[in-house]
Order: sequence, then C-alpha cells, then structure tokens
Amino acid sequence: MSPTVWFLTGNEGKLAEASIHLSNLGYSVKQLVVDEAELYEPQADSLEVVARSKINQALNHLPEQFGNNDMILVEDAGLFIKALDGFPGVYSSFVHSTIGNLGVIRLLNHLSTEDPVSSANLRAAEFRAVAALWCNGEITIGEGICPGHIGDELMEGNGFGFDPIFIPYDLDEHKNPLPAGNYGAYSTHGKTFGAIDSVAKNKFSHRVRALENLFSQLPSA
Ligand code: IMP
Repeated sequence: MSPTVWFLTGNEGKLAEASIHLSNLGYSVKQLVVDEAELYEPQADSLEVVARSKINQALNHLPEQFGNNDMILVEDAGLFIKALDGFPGVYSSFVHSTIGNLGVIRLLNHLSTEDPVSSANLRAAEFRAVAALWCNGEITIGEGICPGHIGDELMEGNGFGFDPIFIPYDLDEHKNPLPAGNYGAYSTHGKTFGAIDSVAKNKFSHRVRALENLFSQLPSA
C-alpha cells in the first residue's frame, strides 16, 4: 500500500488541486487539519522559509492514524506582479484579505497588456509555489512557477484567492509556457484561473509544477 500524504492546508482549493495530481501518481492524500490559532506564518522574504516553518509546526500536530511511512506536505504560494517589483509576493495572503482582487486591479489600472513602444506585457505577473515534503525526517523542496498576466476585470467561478484576476500564458505541446501573446497547444482562451475548473487549472498550475518538481526528486514516486 502506498504511503498517505498528509497535506497541511485549510484551503479546499489547494487540497483539490494536489489530490487530483498526487492520486494520478498513486498516492492517497488526506488533509492534515490543525486549528488556525495553533499555527503561525513567519514574516519571511522567501516562500521556502515559510514552507519549512510549516513542516516543523505540522510535526507537532500529527494525527493518531499517521503511519510509519506517511509523509507531510505543506505548500506556500504567492502572486508576484512585475510592475510592482514582485509585490505582493510573500505578502499575498495579507493583500488578498485587505485590498482583495479589485484592489490589485486598481493598482494596475494605468497599465495595459501591451506597451505600445516595447510590446512588453505591462500587466505581467506570475504565481510561484514552494512545496515541502517531510518523509522519515528528510525534507524535500519543490518549486513551480506559472507566468501570466493580471486581467482588467474579475472572472469568477470555482477558483480561490487571486484566481479570478490571473490569466496564465498559453503552453506549448510540452507544457512549457510561451511568451505573452502567443497561442499554444494549451490555452485558457483568455480566461482567468477563476473561470476554469481545477483539472484545467492543473495543466498550468504553479502548485502542480512544484509537486512535479518535488516528487521527481524522490527515489521512487
Ligand atoms: P498561501 O500563503 O500559500 O496560502 O497563499 C498566499 C495567498 O496567495 C493567498 O491569498 C492565496 O489565496 C493566494 N494564492 C495562493 N495560491 C493561489 C492560487 O493557486 N490561486 C489563487 N490565489 C492563490
């Protein structure tokens, strides 16, 4: 029987995305539920530092059913907007709960997707994720990036967080992101992550890329 991956998250959207991906690799995923009041998010300038801190905290909250070969997964992500020098980045959670998606759109109101002089996408942004897996005392780190741009209106649906304002760049047939404005084999056709379902989002997702990167480092996936 394959080990269970216990994912420390209170976010159902993240849980769904990781479960779809890891069940395809043969892992069973369970949510590691810890009262939010018992956890803290360190104020650090790197997603990896936050992820490592969450692993250490999770070790103090293992469920009784935690088996000998079971693993703990944590993940930390953020939205990095180019025109804002990477802000909100590690402050994404705070920014989402304060100014929200409409606030981010307002911050970029004066910028268009195509600079008339350089043709650069002035609304470029990327999601970055760091996934950390604890297994028998060892921690493995995986990283993933999803480039795209910030839309000029909300496109909502099933997503969470900044999904309603983030439009990923198309991917080529090998699932590599293409430069802004190019049509590829995989496309959301201008829709935000918020307007597509989790299975479709997973083709582009920074989270899935971080998990792929992480699990490719394990001796046997
Ligand atoms: P966290 O600290 O990793 O939970 O995420 C920081 C902030 O980024 C939260 O406001 C999340 O909602 C947002 N975020 C993280 N990943 C995603 C995503 O895949 N889509 C949309 N927002 C996200």
